[in-house]
Amino acid sequence: MRIIVLFSLFALSVADDAGLNTRRFPPNFKFGAANAAPQIEGAWNLEGKGETIWDHFAHTYPERIVDRSTPDVACDSYHKYKEDVALVKKMGLDIYRLSIAWSRILPTGYTDQVNSLGVKYYKNLFKELKANHIEPLVTLYHWDLPQPLQDSLGGWLNETVADLFADYARLCFELFNDDVTSWITINEPKQVCLAGYGSGAFAPGIQSDGVGDYVCVKNVLLAHAKAYRIYDKEFRSRNKGKVSIVLDSTFWEPGSDSEADQEAAQRILQFDLGIYGHPIFIGDWPEVVKSRVAMRSRLEGYSQSRLPVLSAKEIELIKGTHDYIAINHYSTQMVNATVEAPIGRPSGGADRSVLVWNRPEWQKGSSDWFNVVPWGLRKLLNWLKNQYGDEEIIITENGYADTDATLEDDRRVGYYQGYLSSCLDAIYKDNVNLTAYVTWSIIDDWEWTGGYSSFLGMYRVDFNDPDRPRIKRKSADYFTNVVKNRCVVDKDQCTDS
Ligand code: BGC
Repeated sequence: MRIIVLFSLFALSVADDAGLNTRRFPPNFKFGAANAAPQIEGAWNLEGKGETIWDHFAHTYPERIVDRSTPDVACDSYHKYKEDVALVKKMGLDIYRLSIAWSRILPTGYTDQVNSLGVKYYKNLFKELKANHIEPLVTLYHWDLPQPLQDSLGGWLNETVADLFADYARLCFELFNDDVTSWITINEPKQVCLAGYGSGAFAPGIQSDGVGDYVCVKNVLLAHAKAYRIYDKEFRSRNKGKVSIVLDSTFWEPGSDSEADQEAAQRILQFDLGIYGHPIFIGDWPEVVKSRVAMRSRLEGYSQSRLPVLSAKEIELIKGTHDYIAINHYSTQMVNATVEAPIGRPSGGADRSVLVWNRPEWQKGSSDWFNVVPWGLRKLLNWLKNQYGDEEIIITENGYADTDATLEDDRRVGYYQGYLSSCLDAIYKDNVNLTAYVTWSIIDDWEWTGGYSSFLGMYRVDFNDPDRPRIKRKSADYFTNVVKNRCVVDKDQCTDS
């Protein structure tokens, strides 16, 4: 029955979403913008900050970053945070999503040395937000592991790191208890594990496809769960805050109505999203992930599955560690079933066994996978609701990546309009409990391996100018009007909800 309901959702056609939704967002719906410490702060080694795996990666392997750039200065938000807050204020946003750099607070990664200047920086930032009536939504880990934990422990391949993360989380809950009520433990564990410890495309660059990435998944989930439990037990009664983890997913649209292609789409959603969501929202790994990795591991000659077991105790620890669903989403891709790959070296791709493709008519953003497909967001929100129940959902990132830094960013305006309209469809047509939309991003930033050559800001940052001026793009005006009128079309065309 569940399967039939799910599949009928996928039957929503593009045509259903063709027109823009003119209704106003519900009165309590919140808007925000997001950023992350390693991408905007700069000051990579100033005032006591320790080295992170991304500092190390960019300095050691410049060829791995498209423009050979580093995050050393980035937007210099460490010195210019007041300017950033002023932009958030000017746009009328309710929420500013930011991240704390673990190594700015604990330069070694351990609690042996607390960097008071780092603490002061975030205290000042929170003070500034408070003075401007902006709610901070704070991520504890946005990919910037302290390098010493990679060097001495192997990073997320070592379960000890989950405990160290929990120590760091406790310290942050304690230090910023009066300043923050909305916490996110970890941003996009999929990127942390698949790219960091699977393909090796991201820092720390470990290539262990189909092995290390699964070990990482388990450790990251344990880290999240431990931090959540600490908050629940030691802090929640004090400030009644909320904690969750940010998951991310492309929407995977089946390439045909055939059962095999429908199943392929479900399979990749479970491998990419369910592998995190299922243990947290339901308990244990998704069955399809468990059985496929076990089956291929066995044929490959492994004595046990490459997907680590979750013990009954671990399942209990992880299950239920969420106060809402936080999701990042940028794009949609097509997916078909494919023939089982020959048994050979372990591979996450072979475990998934799908063929991914893009419709040629789709408008592209900065990369091949970045398709502009607004209805994909609506379908993803519905997928979450069907899988995990009628939970509160917050979009913690969505935005348009372009290779063109133009100020006349009509493509970005079109993207926001389409995707926000899709949010309205999800709210009003599908009864999805979506309560906030946080865009990525307010200013251009250091885009990891994309360096300073992929642009997502509603304000352009001139990275050649030592003062890093922020220059308004057209999309900033558009988004400001959306927030003001609570509607995605011109004010006189908005209809009341
Ligand atoms: C990450 C951000 C990144 C954004 C745009 C997300 O996956 O969380 O750090 O900048 O994508 O590329």
